[in-house]
Amino acid sequence: MGMKIKMLEFAKELARGSGALLMEYLPKLRTIETKQTITDLVTDADRASEAWLVSQIKERYPDHLILGEEGGGNTTTPYADGYVWVIDPLDGTVNYAHKLPIFAVSIGLMKDGEAYLGVIYIPMLDELFCAIKGGGATRNGEKIKISDRQILQNSVIATGFPYDKHLSERNNIENFGRFLKKIRGIRRMGAASVDLAYVASGALDGYWEEKLKPWDIVAGGIIVKEAGGCVSGYSGNPVDWEAGHIVASNPHIHDQLLEVLSPYAIKHHLNSTRYIGENTQ
Ligand code: IPD
Ligand code: CA
Ligand code: CA
Repeated sequence: MGMKIKMLEFAKELARGSGALLMEYLPKLRTIETKQTITDLVTDADRASEAWLVSQIKERYPDHLILGEEGGGNTTTPYADGYVWVIDPLDGTVNYAHKLPIFAVSIGLMKDGEAYLGVIYIPMLDELFCAIKGGGATRNGEKIKISDRQILQNSVIATGFPYDKHLSERNNIENFGRFLKKIRGIRRMGAASVDLAYVASGALDGYWEEKLKPWDIVAGGIIVKEAGGCVSGYSGNPVDWEAGHIVASNPHIHDQLLEVLSPYAIKHHLNSTRYIGENTQ
């Protein structure tokens, strides 16, 4: 087995293992604490899942860096030479804590500053999405492709709102209003990785969100790209995983999404072009 395939197989094992752990914790969920704001939650399942993932990665690849949401890793940025695992041990914590079934494990791998591999596992649906650079994207082993819808009026897109939405004006509410009038439907699933996985499989035509963290989007970003989609920042700039604003869609509607977002992007100066290594395709 080539090293590339071995890494992908390992990442799949991680996602499935962590997913099993989340399912085990779900009925006996105990601790729910808040983090920065009252809506930003963490449970003992988030922590247990991350601790397990970190221990597995350290054992297999002791020289790789790890960036994890709950702080169990050993680096704070996905941009470094060599390999950086970027992990969200439980994406969709609010759903999980409220026993809504849309949550996932998201595992990305950066190589020399670029997204290289991504795996997203949705345990409730037993859906495993993955991609490795240049290898296409799959769902449970079958090739997936982004949708072919050409115009916004026929599209279903997803978004999310930041945890500081009640405190900050950069809360995405005006964009939601603008899109609502132009499209078939908007969904707020509550897990960025799930939104991206469904853009990749063509169930959703597009997705936009901001104030995200690398662990929310690195895995999903490469899965969308490998499924034939476009991934960029709000101004069409190359996606900056740390800046955390992302537009992911099929290539037909990408510019249409950017156009709707443009007044907001200008107002909030969301035009970072820091990482010119990655293009929007
Ligand atoms: C959150 C989810 C949600 C998005 C939030 C994220 P978490 O991640 O992906 O959909 O709107 O901004 O932070 O906290 O559940 O891992
Ligand atoms: Ca997350
Ligand atoms: Ca999380």
